[in-house]
Amino acid sequence: MQKRAIVQRFLDAGLLVHPEVVNYVSESGASGVIEGIISSLPHGVTVVTPKEVAGMTALRTDKLDVGLASIPEILAGREGASIPLSDPESSYRMFRNRYDTLAQMMKGRLTPYPIEALTRSGSKYADSDIGVIGMVVSTSTSGKGHRIVEIEDPTGFIKVLFNKNREGFDEAEKILPDEVIGVKGKLAPAQPGGISSGMVFADTFFRPDIPLTHTFSPPRGEPAKVALISDVHVGSNTFLEDSWDRFTEWMHNHPEVNYLLIDGDVVDGIGIYPNQDQELTIKTIYEQYDRVGELLSGMPKHLQIVVAPGNHDAVRGAEPQPVIPDEFRRTFHKNVSFVENPAVVSIQSVSTLMYHGRSIDDLIKFIPGASYEHPGEIMKAMLQRRHLSPIYGQRTPLLSMDQDSMIIRRVPDILHTGHVHISEVINYRGVLGVNAGTWQSQTSFQKQMNISPTPAEAVVVDLSTLSYEKYCFLK
Ligand SMILES: [Fe+2]
Repeated sequence: MQKRAIVQRFLDAGLLVHPEVVNYVSESGASGVIEGIISSLPHGVTVVTPKEVAGMTALRTDKLDVGLASIPEILAGREGASIPLSDPESSYRMFRNRYDTLAQMMKGRLTPYPIEALTRSGSKYADSDIGVIGMVVSTSTSGKGHRIVEIEDPTGFIKVLFNKNREGFDEAEKILPDEVIGVKGKLAPAQPGGISSGMVFADTFFRPDIPLTHTFSPPRGEPAKVALISDVHVGSNTFLEDSWDRFTEWMHNHPEVNYLLIDGDVVDGIGIYPNQDQELTIKTIYEQYDRVGELLSGMPKHLQIVVAPGNHDAVRGAEPQPVIPDEFRRTFHKNVSFVENPAVVSIQSVSTLMYHGRSIDDLIKFIPGASYEHPGEIMKAMLQRRHLSPIYGQRTPLLSMDQDSMIIRRVPDILHTGHVHISEVINYRGVLGVNAGTWQSQTSFQKQMNISPTPAEAVVVDLSTLSYEKYCFLK
């Protein structure tokens, strides 16, 4: 990183920086260092001198690339990244960004025709083979059981018929509102007078998907292992503190695990569901977060921890959710980095896409056969659609922004989700999908819904191979 860029990054964060710190960042060569320094500064610091940079003196004398250099690099979802826009047009721009980005991912596989050229009167493409890329407006089933999907591109709307007798019809039944698909098929013959039928008979369809050529690149740097967990729910009377203590002890005995990623719902929150106060042992949000900070302080000191928010945390519910604010970090140590939901963190060049997973509720509702018992299927659905929360207007509120932050722009090495409290690990086209369990025993809501959670489990991934092991700390 060039020195000028280093100074600029500090300025962007509202900080002046001492030349020695600039040299230190420049020499370290690790791009995560600068973000680590900014995120770990004590309150009220406006000038960053060597004194504020923990471990800097030791690092400069022994030249070891340890300590701060191992701070995860936040590639997306850094503090302040998602700012709500009041401009109502921003919603349109966000969906246009979704269409353009996902359409671009599919253009190697088909050449789309503008829908307007297919639907205009006298279209020369009537009764011909065509390709289109569109965002799904609506889905329905015809009287004969075929799937009718209306799609739109920036030029118009058209209906696509998926014949129930064709191979691959089961995938067509999983087409979701607001996802972007590519279709190859035949435009129906024109009606009398050259009027377009406005219908495509689909032969095949595509999703942006993970390329078949995707492979995992082993990391650079020291060997590292990361523990993935989610949904700690501190403050609830079902939080499994004894199990957490066993996990903490295990972490002390396994120093090779040097990262801990927590994917939201670190606290149970306040007023999240009716009569929640009757199920809380810690009745204020500040004290709940204080307790989380204390529990994390009991973890080994070498550990780097990343915390993202979930729908129980004290932040805006609309996604992307901002980082857990400063006012709740009173007891957290400097080895904890806070990210938005979703976020991409890189540890020695291995990228993990962290997403709490609120949209899993919506995807289970819309994908035939999907269930809470198999969140792995939902992670696969997200990767295929290259989108974390494709369906708009259901239970997952989405923030209006110029860019669609829920797009999976870059193929991650690991997709880390949570929310449903059931652990499952998949490998889809070389991407490791980990839905972490919970640190809460079965809740009254889960009892009503007949959901059996996976409590007190950590999934530990070896970043040099992406191999993993599950460890249970329930007893
Ligand atoms: Fe949760």
